[in-house]
Amino acid sequence: MSTSESHDQPPKLHVSQSSALNFAQTLLERNGVPPENAQIISKALVLADLRGVDTHGINRLPSYILRIRNNLLDPLASPTLHQITPVVAQIDGHNSFGFLSAHLGIHAGISMAKEYGIGMVSVKHSNHFGMSAWIVQQALDAQMMSLVFTNSSPALPVWGGKEKLMGVSPIACGAPGKEGGLDFILDMAPSVAARGKIYKAKRRGEKIPLDWALDREGERTDDPAKALEGVMLPMGGPKGSALAVMMDVFSGVLSGSQFAGEVRGPYDESGVADVGHFLVVLRPDLFMDLGEFRERMGVLYDKVVGCKKMKGVERIYFPGEIEQVTHEERLKTGIPFVEAEIEALNREAELVGSKKIEVMS
Ligand SMILES: NC(=O)c1ccc[n+]([C@@H]2O[C@H](COP(=O)([O-])OP(=O)(O)OC[C@H]3O[C@@H](n4cnc5c(N)ncnc54)[C@H](O)[C@@H]3O)[C@@H](O)[C@H]2O)c1
Repeated sequence: MSTSESHDQPPKLHVSQSSALNFAQTLLERNGVPPENAQIISKALVLADLRGVDTHGINRLPSYILRIRNNLLDPLASPTLHQITPVVAQIDGHNSFGFLSAHLGIHAGISMAKEYGIGMVSVKHSNHFGMSAWIVQQALDAQMMSLVFTNSSPALPVWGGKEKLMGVSPIACGAPGKEGGLDFILDMAPSVAARGKIYKAKRRGEKIPLDWALDREGERTDDPAKALEGVMLPMGGPKGSALAVMMDVFSGVLSGSQFAGEVRGPYDESGVADVGHFLVVLRPDLFMDLGEFRERMGVLYDKVVGCKKMKGVERIYFPGEIEQVTHEERLKTGIPFVEAEIEALNREAELVGSKKIEVMS
């Protein structure tokens, strides 16, 4: 049993990284996604599962596949890139998987940053790209800093409002850490909790904390189904609401994609999503050499995790560290799923005659 499981939760079935990757790859290919694109999507989803961001892992496959079946997402489309200036590019996703535009965009940003120090990419006509941290990780693998923004479907009222208007759109950024140490990865939704956590609780038959959402009548609720009919609550009141607006300015207004409550969510079958993203990649050795930058990140890390703790706190974590610990653990133990999740994935596999997901014994 993984250390992240508690005893009042349903028992978990574990799936190895390679089984999860194989399953996702085959399922996507059987639903019309070309192999090289299926690989990008599978890796991003499985990385989310490994990092403990179960809300954005392979459990999302049925919702993406339903969009393919309903002609709301084009499995064959690939994004195209248009260079605007030497450091600015624009991508048209052509309603392909958001993972593909994000992959193309971050690698274009890395190339520009390698040559000119910075690279900026705006993406239009895209879809949900899952957990932002996988995009940040691509930049980190190239020893680059990054900002990764997206907008998303309405889920959150603006401060003082009572209707869903802004998305629970995550803000993510990363910077290389000390050589051999931990990188900085912040990846957070501007709500008290990501909406995916409510979908996950619903799937698993679990209750949610009372400060996450309001029901349709504007009352606090611990029932995930009622919460999904109502609104998410912004973190930090007007500040969380302002961050959600910021994601819409940079990802929606600027890109030419939908904005101001018009993006459609991955579970909304009324039309195409038309999500926008905004990516910036920055070389960390612009103002000093990389070794010195990394040393300074090491000092920051040590100060943060080594500071005096509040009463009752056992350990202080650096942003991204909890997910890193879970990643290392799950590479050994496998990814935990509840039976209903495995069944839902297998039903999807059955529909296209692909193999069931392999559970560890
Ligand atoms: N693509 C989309 O439209 C979309 C929408 C919403 C959320 N998401 C994804 O959902 C995921 C979950 O978002 P979330 O806001 O619920 O994340 P979260 O609240 O679990 O974590 C937010 C950040 O806080 C850090 N953190 C958490 N606990 C910490 C602690 N005790 N000490 C130090 N740092 C800590 C994490 O490392 C992370 O960087 C993200 O990966 C996000 O990209 C995607």
